[in-house]
Amino acid sequence: MKDLVIVGAGGHAREVHQSILAINRVSPTWNFLGFIDDFARSTEVAGCPVLGGMAWLRGKTCHMVVAIGSPAVRRRVVNELLLQESAEFATLIHPSAQVGNSVILEPGCMVSAGAILTADVKIGRHVIVNTGAVVSHDCQIADFCTIAPMSCLCGAVRLGEGAELGASVTIIPGVSLGKWSMAGAGTTVIRDVPDNETVVGGTNRVINKQNAGWHEKV
Ligand SMILES: CC(C)(COP(=O)(O)OP(=O)(O)OC[C@H]1O[C@@H](n2cnc3c(N)ncnc32)[C@H](O)[C@@H]1OP(=O)(O)O)[C@@H](O)C(=O)NCCC(=O)NCCS
Repeated sequence: MKDLVIVGAGGHAREVHQSILAINRVSPTWNFLGFIDDFARSTEVAGCPVLGGMAWLRGKTCHMVVAIGSPAVRRRVVNELLLQESAEFATLIHPSAQVGNSVILEPGCMVSAGAILTADVKIGRHVIVNTGAVVSHDCQIADFCTIAPMSCLCGAVRLGEGAELGASVTIIPGVSLGKWSMAGAGTTVIRDVPDNETVVGGTNRVINKQNAGWHEKV
């Protein structure tokens, strides 16, 4: 069993803790030591100790995963940890996730329960693919992206570094979301989004109107 800490102690951190428990049920892999949080309001989270702030990690050789939902904050914390020579990042995949054998996942990624990553997908460092999200063939997801629950990336979608998808975002095939951009919850992204932009909304624009009963004449 390898020693592991979760950096962060909020909602996503508790979800990642659940993933660790599920992984260990299938195959005992991680000796979970506790949570690291500079701003913890409690000494215990999910029945496990909050070990201390980032200073606790100095000189330690344990694996770690940065379970902070915000891409920008996650990047800042990872960069602080990289200043410590011993930083070794774990990749955690919930056993109920489906990850194709041609999928590349870089260190620090967290793939939650029920997520599906199909074929020839590339996922960069410290990416979150949250519960039930679908990442289809040939998608390229850069470092520090966050894909919220139930989002659906059709084929060959590209997310730039730090791009964030709210819950249930759909991105149609071949479309890109730029670096540090965001698509709000429920958004359907149908054209490329430049860097540093937030887009929202469905696209329920009427583009065709047929006479009632048209379907009986086909
Ligand atoms: C996109 C988002 C970040 C915008 O937050 P914000 O900057 O605080 O924006 P506001 O709430 O001030 O809204 C600004 C405008 O955008 C609209 N808007 C915001 N989010 C929207 C969404 N998801 N879909 C459609 N319209 C949205 C608001 O109605 C408002 O419109 P108005 O100016 O015409 O009144 C946020 O609404 C969102 O969707 N976050 C994702 C949360 C999520 O899914 N997290 C996953 C957790 S696991």
